[in-house]
Amino acid sequence: MTRRLALVGLGPGDPDLLTAQAARVLNEVDHLLVADKTAQHPGTADLIAMREEICRRHVRGPWHLVAVPDPERDRDDPTDYAGAVRDWHEARAIAFEATLLEHPGDAAILVWGDPSLYDSAIRLADRIEERGVVDVEVEVVPGLSSVQLLAARHRLVLNAVGGPITITTGRRLLEDATAGDNLVVMLDGSLTCRRLPERAAWNVWWGANLGSADEVVVAGRLDRVVEEIAARRAEARAARGWVMDTYLLRRA
Ligand SMILES: C[S@@+](CC[C@H](N)C(=O)[O-])C[C@H]1O[C@@H](n2cnc3c(N)ncnc32)[C@H](O)[C@@H]1O
Repeated sequence: MTRRLALVGLGPGDPDLLTAQAARVLNEVDHLLVADKTAQHPGTADLIAMREEICRRHVRGPWHLVAVPDPERDRDDPTDYAGAVRDWHEARAIAFEATLLEHPGDAAILVWGDPSLYDSAIRLADRIEERGVVDVEVEVVPGLSSVQLLAARHRLVLNAVGGPITITTGRRLLEDATAGDNLVVMLDGSLTCRRLPERAAWNVWWGANLGSADEVVVAGRLDRVVEEIAARRAEARAARGWVMDTYLLRRA
């Protein structure tokens, strides 16, 4: 029998930011699945607790949350990054497939933010479908992304009038900043904007742990505020054991 597999965007942390559609789907399915990275990153137990809080607020009656242990990713082979990612995606598909076999009925995978942005849930579901071991009908339920919340907190229009916007990662920032002058940076574990040449030529709008009780935002000319951002970032990480931050960089 075909089972429903919904990929539900939860928004970036604040239970108030869950959409009505997402809340409806969470109430309709039998199991709520969440990737569990606590073995690799113990601090992320907090992120599972935040998802539970969202369920507490929005799911009527009891719910069944299943934490699916995330397989280890082989980061030791820089010569075959793509291969390491491919193997990891396959291992994740097998882990979720095993969970679905163990728990019959409809399921939702709880996705941080929106599934369309730097998230592997859609590829994961595609792979589960392709493997054909579990018969699933996949649907995507959009959520508010951290990028939208960053823009709201700073009262920003992300693009300049009629202009483009690049969404990139810390890993690619130095290269992408040579071509773009309006960039959103995500997945930046080391505040790469500190290494940009001509820091006085950029403005930054930064936000960490947006949507949580201890969210922090800073904006200004990059050379003037970057050390404050580094300090606030370090404080946020020390307080929770993890920090997630996103920023817009725009050439002044
Ligand atoms: C794996 S990506 C997931 C993005 C997510 N799908 C979204 O729509 O926001 C994780 C990155 O998203 C950003 N992020 C997620 N939640 C955030 C939050 N609450 N505050 C600031 N940035 C956040 C950070 O750049 C983090 O490194």
